[in-house]
Amino acid sequence: MRLLINTPTEDAEAWRAQFLALAPELDIRIWPDAGPVEEIDVVFAWRTRAGDLARYPRLRAVFSLGAGVDGLLADPQFPRHVPLVRMVDPNLAVLMAEYVAAAVLRYHCELDRYQALQAGQRWEKHVRPFACERTVGVLGLGELGTNAARTLAALGFPVRGWARSAHAIDGVHTFAGEAGLPAFLDALQVLVCLLPLTPHTRGLLDARLFARLAPGAFVINVARGAHVVERDLLAALDSGQLAGATLDVFDTEPLPAGHPYWTHPRVLVTPHISSVTSLRTAAALVVDNLRQWQAGGRLRNVVDPERGY
Ligand code: GLV
Repeated sequence: MRLLINTPTEDAEAWRAQFLALAPELDIRIWPDAGPVEEIDVVFAWRTRAGDLARYPRLRAVFSLGAGVDGLLADPQFPRHVPLVRMVDPNLAVLMAEYVAAAVLRYHCELDRYQALQAGQRWEKHVRPFACERTVGVLGLGELGTNAARTLAALGFPVRGWARSAHAIDGVHTFAGEAGLPAFLDALQVLVCLLPLTPHTRGLLDARLFARLAPGAFVINVARGAHVVERDLLAALDSGQLAGATLDVFDTEPLPAGHPYWTHPRVLVTPHISSVTSLRTAAALVVDNLRQWQAGGRLRNVVDPERGY
């Protein structure tokens, strides 16, 4: 089987070495040196240039390096007849739950406030509420959202979860669909976004949504920058409707120099590191999926192109 790797260039050789260590039978090419286009069976990619995937006439599957596949489906010429496999690695969910828990606890324990007080050498004590008095909501209940919601519930927070379709998660109060969104948002104190980016979820985090949260709520976006309407977020922070935002993802990455987020006193910026695919564990999962498929089994974790996740 011929596999074309199209990942950010600094990683491509490392992925090749890892795949070959696990499956020496693979014939691996690294984009843009695909060789004859009709030889490519499978592409492993993060994002591709528009039209690139349409160049391989015998393409049988596309494997996404990331859990989110919006970057691949953004290509208007994406070959829709070819199965697209998203990255499902339990380690991605563990890393994400750690980041989300850290971000929520930073607000809950008011470490952000003490960092600001320290800058002024001010010794000021505040009594914080109990975790059971601070309701946290997780938008998106896929592999990552579900695990994050469970982890927050285990820390003692009342947790709500929202997704387009109905989900049942022990210890989490779940809501579904557009009709369930207002009740999910109502007076939430911390909102975590872990939605897939689709036409339905683009720009969902806007002024109307922020107004439904508790005054002084916190927002944590670890999904995609385009879920957030930037000027609405900045206005909500400036008016005090939001007390802080932890942002790991942005419309433009890297976040451009001079962007207001960089210097905003109530914004924490991290460079898309909340959960990063590890080739040490993910390559084995890709190889296992490929081998079972070669042996006549079904490909696992195939995206529904209509839903976009
Ligand atoms: C990262 O953003 C991913 O989709 O895995």
